[in-house]
Amino acid sequence: MKLLDGKLIADQIKTEIATEVKTDFFDKGIDAPHIAAVLVGEDPASMTYVAAKEKACREVGFISSVYRYPSNITQEKLLEVVDFLNDDSEVHGFIVQLPLPAHIDEQRIIERIDPKKDVDGFHPVNIGKMVLNQPCFLSATPLGIITLLERYNIETAGKNVVVLGRSHIVGTPVSILLSRKSAAGNATVTLCHSFSQDIPAIAAQADILIVAMGKMGFVTADMVKKDAVVIDVGVHRIPSTETKSGFRLKGDVDFDRVSRKCSYITPVPGGVGPMTIVSLLQNTLKAAKKEII
Ligand code: GUN
Repeated sequence: MKLLDGKLIADQIKTEIATEVKTDFFDKGIDAPHIAAVLVGEDPASMTYVAAKEKACREVGFISSVYRYPSNITQEKLLEVVDFLNDDSEVHGFIVQLPLPAHIDEQRIIERIDPKKDVDGFHPVNIGKMVLNQPCFLSATPLGIITLLERYNIETAGKNVVVLGRSHIVGTPVSILLSRKSAAGNATVTLCHSFSQDIPAIAAQADILIVAMGKMGFVTADMVKKDAVVIDVGVHRIPSTETKSGFRLKGDVDFDRVSRKCSYITPVPGGVGPMTIVSLLQNTLKAAKKEII
């Protein structure tokens, strides 16, 4: 078994981005790429993600700003914030961290974001372009998974890929990307969800198994074909007395047992997570270079 070391690859890509920021922006006297994040409320996971994104931005020389609002912000006010960021010519791209409080219509907010600044790739225009294989912002986690497979030279063409979970953020877009007629595509993809029958039997057919269900330890060794490639997108915080933060992270896959059977596997933490953050940096660089219009 080999680890798909997302941390290592993300660090390599960050170095590449930092070099590009220096040569294409600093050395030419051009303002660095600028990403803004909108954070509503105090969800601990969202706060951790936004802090990690800010840190990564600093590391590569980007400008980052965070707009924080209390969880009782009105939908109208949040739409105004989106309008403001759409119009701010100094901000190349921005994200609205999800989930939003229940009284806010998430889709309305997403659809208000200018697709040219939608570095999360959540706007229907970007999703439509992704389906049509046109230049667009790809959402960060699916892009991170594809990049990880590419950097490890894992062939996807003609392979059986099984994706567990059909979320708009991960499962659905990654299933489309892997089935597209493109590099890191051309796979035969099966997308499993809550109505799927006998998920263990379907998963066991996978050459590449992508797990994004949000169920801790769901995938056990019997659901994995020998020498399969396993990508674990799950992130669960469990209390721990051994860490400073008071918790540690676990995935959707029973890593200890599955890792003995598969050829490659992403650890949690240090697999998909760092790749997601670095993908957001790549999208922001594209936005600053006006590569997506
Ligand atoms: N919440 C969980 N993942 C994401 C993400 O990639 N982007 C945003 N905006 N919110 C999230």
